Amino acid sequence: MKFLSSIMRKFVIGGNWKMQILKVEEAVSIATEIAKEINDILTENVEVFIAPSFNALYSVGKAIKGTKLKLAGQNMYFRDKGAFTGEVSADSLLDAGCEYVILGHSERRRIFGESDAVINQKVKKALEKGLKPVLCIGETAKEKEQGNTESVLRTQIEGSLADIPPEQLDQIVIAYEPVWAINNKFLNPDSEIKTATPEEAEKNHNFIRNLLKTTFGEEIAFKIPIQYGGSMKAANCEGLLKILDINGGLIGGASLSAEKFKPIIEAAVKFGKI
Ligand code: PGA
Repeated sequence: MKFLSSIMRKFVIGGNWKMQILKVEEAVSIATEIAKEINDILTENVEVFIAPSFNALYSVGKAIKGTKLKLAGQNMYFRDKGAFTGEVSADSLLDAGCEYVILGHSERRRIFGESDAVINQKVKKALEKGLKPVLCIGETAKEKEQGNTESVLRTQIEGSLADIPPEQLDQIVIAYEPVWAINNKFLNPDSEIKTATPEEAEKNHNFIRNLLKTTFGEEIAFKIPIQYGGSMKAANCEGLLKILDINGGLIGGASLSAEKFKPIIEAAVKFGKI
């Protein structure tokens, strides 16, 4: 086996815009500014994507073409085409210029009822079509309190990545997003939203890496970037991104302007040396 140090692992920073930017013109303007700000600072091993709403994807894709900023869908259906009202296909995402697609976000899992079995089909379709899946996993506050974090993460990873040939797995990014840390009042109505401490995040990232190792082998497990997500922002990103098994971030609120997003990207460039 090759020495792991000779294998390239990407650092990936993603901006998940959710349903926050409502007008195409605004999405294009923010994306253009982010692309301009980061073009000179990005190094070869750091990738940055933004995931605007579907209605803005095509225009944003055109606006950022030729820059280092990449485009992602926030979701995707696993069928190629057909009578599936309200859904979007992998080919449509590719047509808009997407390279990544976020799958199984906790808002999709917990608000829209997506199961690991459905997410698994989506991951397979994305890989078949050449889109890089950003597979989101994470435990709720209650699951954490009950001491079930590791079993939840194991079930989500094993279910969402079932029957995927190991050689395709180096196209995948995993986003570990503890649900209780996501800035979302619907998912966390009663609790104060806190970012995971670097220690908590490190423990769970180590668990995920070890699980990937035992399931898929050391080399593949090393190559898969594991992003942290959940209230990451300028003030806390360095403490998280310097941890060895944190290889990027999936950022909601702090990705909605170039001003807030840029410091996180700068931290990724600083720590993303592996
Ligand atoms: P947040 O969202 O950074 O606003 O907490 C992260 C996410 O849900 O991906």
